[in-house]
Amino acid sequence: MRITPKQAGQYRRDGFLILENFVSGDACDLLKVRAEELVSQFDPQGLISIFSTREQSRVADDYFLTSGDKIRFFFEEAAFLPDGSLKHAKEKSINKIGHALHELDSVFRDFSRTADIRNLVSDLQISSPLLIQSMYIFKQPNIGGEVSCHQDSTFLYTEPFELVGLWFAIEDATIENGCLWALPGGHMLGLKSRWVRTPQGRMEFQTLQTPDWPENKLRPLEVKKGALVVLHGLLPHKSLANRSATSRHAYTLHVMSGNVRYPSDNWLQRPADMPFGGF
Ligand code: FE2
Repeated sequence: MRITPKQAGQYRRDGFLILENFVSGDACDLLKVRAEELVSQFDPQGLISIFSTREQSRVADDYFLTSGDKIRFFFEEAAFLPDGSLKHAKEKSINKIGHALHELDSVFRDFSRTADIRNLVSDLQISSPLLIQSMYIFKQPNIGGEVSCHQDSTFLYTEPFELVGLWFAIEDATIENGCLWALPGGHMLGLKSRWVRTPQGRMEFQTLQTPDWPENKLRPLEVKKGALVVLHGLLPHKSLANRSATSRHAYTLHVMSGNVRYPSDNWLQRPADMPFGGF
């Protein structure tokens, strides 16, 4: 499967591209079953104490910031009762799994390294591509939280900007269950901010410029299971909370060129013995 010159042009113009039926329904099901298996094997007890008390925020931050080479589980913000216990079953409380599924789990590794993806990335002119981050996102029924408007290059900064996000719909994504919204052409507006590691090891936003994003121009990207949404690293996008009774599972993969600078003050770092890998 290769994209057409017209599709490549759409991507350059809009900063995103929807490819329906990019993966089969069976491949989606396989990934979903594997994600659910990982959750069922995960013991949340230690983490519940970390995420349910404000005093522990440093520990919670470290849990996130050291997850670039691991498979870790993150809860929905609305998952907890005031006493710190989970409101719903563990399976209905997880927000996402990240950030090295594509390296450490064979089902995710196979899903992430198909010839179709390799060809697509090549068609998008990402040279010497490296897979840097993966997330399985549950967008749980009723409590799946909103993700406010952002650019992925804020979090995965590269010089120059050669970063692409691949967003696979593992289930149908609708306005009701929290599909993506994107600002067509918004990747031309430049990078608004960077999330950088300070010398003290904490993270802060560094404002680069402050163009107002016309958020009323964001467009919902409703897609069917099996679709792939390609997102330019500079494209402003968001998703709303899921207040519906159906989940909206998605898998995301971020790919950058191996020929760009990836700064050491980006949050996601790999140890020397586990560098970013290609296809
Ligand atoms: Fe994003």
